[in-house]
Amino acid sequence: MANVIALENVEKIYDTGEVKVPALRGVSLQVASGEFVAIMGASGSGKSTLMNIIGCLDRPTKGKYLFDGQDVSRLSRTELAHIRNRKLGFIFQGFNLLKRHSAVENVEMPLLYAGVSARQRRKRALEMLSLVGLSQRAGHLPNQLSGGQQQRAAIARALVNQPQLLLADEPTGNLDSHTGAEILDQFQRLNRESGQTIVMVTHDPAIAAYAARLIAMRDGLIASDAVNPSQHAGPASHGAATATLAGSGVAGTMRTAS
Ligand SMILES: Nc1ncnc2c1ncn2[C@@H]1O[C@H](COP(=O)(O)OP(=O)(O)OP(=O)(O)O)[C@@H](O)[C@H]1O
Ligand SMILES: [Mg+2]
Repeated sequence: MANVIALENVEKIYDTGEVKVPALRGVSLQVASGEFVAIMGASGSGKSTLMNIIGCLDRPTKGKYLFDGQDVSRLSRTELAHIRNRKLGFIFQGFNLLKRHSAVENVEMPLLYAGVSARQRRKRALEMLSLVGLSQRAGHLPNQLSGGQQQRAAIARALVNQPQLLLADEPTGNLDSHTGAEILDQFQRLNRESGQTIVMVTHDPAIAAYAARLIAMRDGLIASDAVNPSQHAGPASHGAATATLAGSGVAGTMRTAS
């Protein structure tokens, strides 16, 4: 399958004026369409720096980054913003929901930037809220939602544009383990049933265990990159659950949301 992400010898050096911090020291990485990847590593190992580059929020100091076959190292800020709006979905640790806007308005936001009509925006946002089980809370403001519900709204917002790539930095940070597990189950379903490509950063091995591929960072380099043995069996080990969900129309909703 085609590579969504292809990094070649990517270096990132933060120049603070006094010191130069080499945050990435030559990272090469390829992620194919349909993969679910977890990136782990100690604090300061370069995970967020790598995510910022993958998410076109920052550019490499050296090396090459092809997103969906396009050399983003050469793109202008405007072109990078265009890719972010059209092709990427972000879930940040702090959710970043707009406080004065209801759940459904938050989910509509990326479609506004993409120039989708008001009617279509509402329709698709409600479909996404339904997908994450938040239909009953569409009109609520973020502070009227629980932490897990806010996170689900953030996931709906990240997915409403049908991004080619979903990026999540500590997606279950601040959530209780039950809610965290629900969200990761949702990621797994999206990945398996709709082929959603996901790259997720976490320092928690129990969370990384949901991904099919595990990457460990150390000192700005990839220290290991392997298939997750516990997920290797794939849907077969979750046969019953997958069959139920396949019949629920969840995957269908994802595909027809365009
Ligand atoms: N804007 C910046 N300016 C200077 N140095 C930075 C900047 N951002 C990150 N760094 C440094 O780059 C290195 C990698 O940081 P990064 O944020 O990528 O780590 P991380 O793996 O995400 O850590 P954490 O798990 O704590 O979030 C660290 O040494 C950090 O201090
Ligand atoms: Mg970080």
